Amino acid sequence: MRIVLLGAPGSGKGTQAALLVEQLKLPHISTGALLRSAVEAGTELGLKAKIIMDRGEFVSDDIMLKLIEERLSQFDAIPGFILDGYPRNIAQAEALDGLLTRLERPLDEALQIDVDIEKMIERIALRASEEGRSDDSEEVARKRMQVYAEQTAPVVDYYADKGVLSRVLGMGSVEDVFSRIMGVLQIRSYS
Ligand code: AP5
Repeated sequence: MRIVLLGAPGSGKGTQAALLVEQLKLPHISTGALLRSAVEAGTELGLKAKIIMDRGEFVSDDIMLKLIEERLSQFDAIPGFILDGYPRNIAQAEALDGLLTRLERPLDEALQIDVDIEKMIERIALRASEEGRSDDSEEVARKRMQVYAEQTAPVVDYYADKGVLSRVLGMGSVEDVFSRIMGVLQIRSYS
């Protein structure tokens, strides 16, 4: 099964992906995590990406496509994957479609997690105080929300037009949101 998780910063994509990994035994591929690993490793990509991420902006589509192409070609992604953080704009959605068509592994499901903006800002503020992620200051979080609204929100319609979109309310406890997601996947007969 090939799933894309969509949602604004702080909507719970990473949290729900971790639970889905346990349930579905598929790899969680998070482009944010891949970039943060590159930053930690101090690679050339990491050094460039850190500046962009700390401004709340997007790393270039070319770099992201290379990163995702490499990751999806790995052995563990052959049976399926839970993709989190990609695609983030229409160009990336089209590039992903092209890549999956070439690999003869089309997308099964795009799951959009909907949460109120102020709730997401609150969650990110809490994480900032607990983990100190460098793009979690309130100013950068609001910038990320703005970039999401301008560039990523249209991706939801893109997948709706393709007939693979489901929407899930991401408010409430982590467990409640996970039950809703599993409900959607069961209706689609994936689990
Ligand atoms: P990325 O790491 O993808 O960050 P994001 O999309 O901003 O998402 P977050 O990690 O903030 O939130 P999330 O939805 O995963 O929520 P989470 O589960 O963590 O990207 C970071 C940056 O990398 C981007 O800004 C960009 O610069 C770059 N980048 C990445 N991909 C790119 C791409 N494709 N193209 C270009 N650039 C790219 O939850 C958030 C918090 O809330 C956590 O503390 C969690 O514990 C808590 N929480 C979750 N659910 C609940 C709940 N139900 N109740 C209470 N708390 C909850």
